[in-house]
Amino acid sequence: MEIPSLNWLLLACQCMLVSGIDVYTAAVYEHRSILNPSPKIRPTRQSALKHMKENLNIYQLQVYEASKQGAKIIVFPENGLYGFNFTRDSIFPYLEPIPDPTVVKWNPCLHPKAVNDTEVLYQLSCIARYGKMYLIANMGERQSCKRSDPWCPSDGRYQFNTDVIFDAEGSIIAKYHKQNLYFEEAFNTPKIVFPTAWMNQLPLLSAVEFQQAFATAFGINLLAANQHHPEYKMTGSGIYTPFASHDYYNMESHEGKLLVAEVPIITHYNVSSLELKTSQGTLKFPERHIHIEPSTQLQRWSVQMDQSQQFLHAADGLGDIFYSLMMYDNYTFVLMTDLEGDLQVCSNTLCCHLAYQRSHASGLYALGAFDGLHTVHGVYYLQVCALVKCPRSSIDTCGQSATTASDIIDFQLWGNFSTHHIYSEILATEVKLYRADTLEWVNNNFYMTKQGMTEGLITAALYGRWYKKD
Ligand SMILES: *[C@@H]1O[C@H](CO)[C@@H](O)[C@H](O)[C@H]1NC(C)=O
Ligand SMILES: *[C@@H]1O[C@H](CO)[C@@H](O)[C@H](O)[C@H]1NC(C)=O
Ligand SMILES: *[C@@H]1O[C@H](CO)[C@@H](O)[C@H](O)[C@H]1NC(C)=O
Ligand SMILES: *[C@@H]1O[C@H](CO)[C@@H](O)[C@H](O)[C@H]1NC(C)=O
Ligand SMILES: *[C@@H]1O[C@H](CO)[C@@H](O)[C@H](O)[C@H]1NC(C)=O
Repeated sequence: MEIPSLNWLLLACQCMLVSGIDVYTAAVYEHRSILNPSPKIRPTRQSALKHMKENLNIYQLQVYEASKQGAKIIVFPENGLYGFNFTRDSIFPYLEPIPDPTVVKWNPCLHPKAVNDTEVLYQLSCIARYGKMYLIANMGERQSCKRSDPWCPSDGRYQFNTDVIFDAEGSIIAKYHKQNLYFEEAFNTPKIVFPTAWMNQLPLLSAVEFQQAFATAFGINLLAANQHHPEYKMTGSGIYTPFASHDYYNMESHEGKLLVAEVPIITHYNVSSLELKTSQGTLKFPERHIHIEPSTQLQRWSVQMDQSQQFLHAADGLGDIFYSLMMYDNYTFVLMTDLEGDLQVCSNTLCCHLAYQRSHASGLYALGAFDGLHTVHGVYYLQVCALVKCPRSSIDTCGQSATTASDIIDFQLWGNFSTHHIYSEILATEVKLYRADTLEWVNNNFYMTKQGMTEGLITAALYGRWYKKD
């Protein structure tokens, strides 16, 4: 099923939003949206409003709860006000015109009559105003267009999936149109590409996993709100800072969940030096070299790995390769057969390597490489090295989702990537996240090291996006 539900917000410079304090409190709400049971049938505006009101009332309660905990900003998930599975026609009564905040400054709570058909904007604005916090919500937008516009759809309007940002007084300060990795029949594709949503697709790109990788790789704060519908595999929200992560993933509960956490104010982010100054300290990521929690023990271990790498290059034909689909991509795999050793597998110009040591061998593991164009639910070029646990004991299951594991594995995973946009992901049993010990470039190879995990490993991956090749 292809349903987007994740809404995230990158805060590269909170100094614009909140000033005068060192840290501030942020909230995200994993919302169990009340759904329309017949999303393909076009409702009246009145019943669409009644439906959205039920969700808005939950938002209002959560903002009240978050404000008691001191939150200054809250993020709600994508499609949270109406759900999913609409058609272009059936979504129409849910849509509102949203004036461009760069053209007109408007506070819907104070001036509700200024624009017709904006009941949702009105309530969101008042919720932000009474909660005294910035509020980011996703909603449907309609915008009429002229025939002279070559992109104007034949029915004379655009329908956008739009994130609207209100300030703490309720004024609209920003909006952006979103494009999803997944197709949504109900909405047009904006001309500006802003990929935001994906569903939980174990073993790679589980929402929480990807969000944390993203915050670590780019040294920024990330507030991510997902919908909560475990029955559709939707869960996974979090507040991620370069220093800590507060995440939530729950396939059991049937309730929404409010997360509240302190976030440092990033006062300065120098893209050319990759230096990040925050109220909690300075992080420096020298170009092509990111180090997290280095320790001498790990460095020693890395040296041993380098030696084994040389051995690896000298050796030939390590293990038999096989092909298996993972998230629709045809990976080249090689099995992990021992308690310790080295593996290598290549796909096109990417060669992936693994040096590993494991506690015991109860699960079947394989190292996979993929270097190619991903074409399902979006077209983008990927380079991926992934160590995965196969869910069952036959090799044709490698690449399918596993959610439990008991083998504890120390490893170094690396590959000769052609892109610098690499996200690292380590996932342990029952979908728990771990951070890499080190992430670094050495001689045109990107390395990830992890040891000392206390739980079984499900996935360790280096997930590269090669934007130029899209
Ligand atoms: C949405 O559509 C999918 C597949 O078409 C279906 O499985 C799911 O139950 C639908 N959900 C809702 C809320 O209509
Ligand atoms: C809103 O709609 C009413 C009734 O259709 C119309 O008279 C009025 O001019 C509209 N107001 C604005 C601001 O467009
Ligand atoms: C950003 O980093 C570059 C390279 O280190 C340096 O030359 C420049 O002065 C820095 N800019 C600021 C605003 O600190
Ligand atoms: C995967 O690639 C291999 C090698 O090119 C090919 O033999 C195999 O048929 C492909 N598998 C699928 C499912 O496309
Ligand atoms: C990666 O390594 C393999 C094997 O050494 C080599 O054939 C390939 O050209 C390398 N790729 C890049 C981009 O250097």
